[in-house]
Amino acid sequence: MQTDLVPAQGLLFAPMEGVTDSVYRQVVSEICPGWDVLACDFLRVPSAGHYPKKHLIKHIGQQFLENTDWNKRTMYQILTSERAFTVDLVKQVADIGVHWVDLNLGCPSKTVCKSGGGSSLLRDLKVVERIVTDIRKSFSGRFTCKVRAGFSNGDQITDIIKLLNDCGAEMITVHGRTREMMYKEPARWEWIEEAVRVSQVPIVGNGDVWNAQDAQRMLCETGCYAVMVARGALKTPWFPQHYYQNVTDAPETRIAMARQFLKRYAELLTESGVNDAGVVRQIKSVSRYIFDELPGGEVLRRKVLLSQTSANIFNEINASY
Ligand SMILES: Cc1cc2nc3c(=O)[nH]c(=O)nc-3n(C[C@H](O)[C@H](O)[C@H](O)COP(=O)(O)O)c2cc1C
Repeated sequence: MQTDLVPAQGLLFAPMEGVTDSVYRQVVSEICPGWDVLACDFLRVPSAGHYPKKHLIKHIGQQFLENTDWNKRTMYQILTSERAFTVDLVKQVADIGVHWVDLNLGCPSKTVCKSGGGSSLLRDLKVVERIVTDIRKSFSGRFTCKVRAGFSNGDQITDIIKLLNDCGAEMITVHGRTREMMYKEPARWEWIEEAVRVSQVPIVGNGDVWNAQDAQRMLCETGCYAVMVARGALKTPWFPQHYYQNVTDAPETRIAMARQFLKRYAELLTESGVNDAGVVRQIKSVSRYIFDELPGGEVLRRKVLLSQTSANIFNEINASY
């Protein structure tokens, strides 16, 4: 099965709320090329009123809209509920020039589920059917979905996939966990394999891919079309080097890459008007895994978490060389 959305065995950088905003994606594009797709974190569809155009543009980033190649390879993810103004939002998003909309059917957070969005939609597939059909009718660009394997039972994946196929999703990312599993247990790749078995459209596998070997194993074990990486991408934003070029990092290379990445991130945040306290906050949130596997990595991570200024963070990183 082939799609022009993503190359076979391609690599997708997952949507992550609080991380994959336009500044972060810009650093990834500059310093860690090779990702076939980057995803915006979810934009909540409003149930009252509209977002100003400026807000919709900021979500993907003007630079991503202007660069046709990157626009085509950027998933603009939305999170909606039965009552929200999904069709209006999708039309607005098309008007600003977005090529690709992805529907979030996987977010497990209590707040999101209470308001009837994300994975809680999987409790009533009739509602999913209405939402997905409405989006498909009102958006002529690429339309994909990202799902968990079910709300409480992973066997639900068969019905979910058939429904999304019937309603016109062009590609489906399956995170091999139910909502009730949250992140507690290992991802169940057999649910991804089942999705592959029943789907007419490409399935992207997701869940517990931490390195290039895991990605290859997921492709072999599940037969999925491509692989999406979230926490492993936070750990190694330059993952494509390992995956496509067979590079492995010596510890000094890892720390040098992490430093270069975070330095550029800090620079771009500052240029976009974020003050130093904001820069520190963002660096802390994106560097949760980036020092993993380094000798003394855990100590360095704690030092970074205790730092009050970006200068202090980079002093700690420099001192760890
Ligand atoms: C910090 C964080 C934020 C996330 N935000 C989103 C999001 O906005 N949209 C979404 O579909 N999934 C979101 N996820 C889920 C991931 O995209 C992914 O499905 C999940 O982490 C499993 O993949 P992994 O094992 O590679 O981390 C988030 C995950 C993390 C860790």
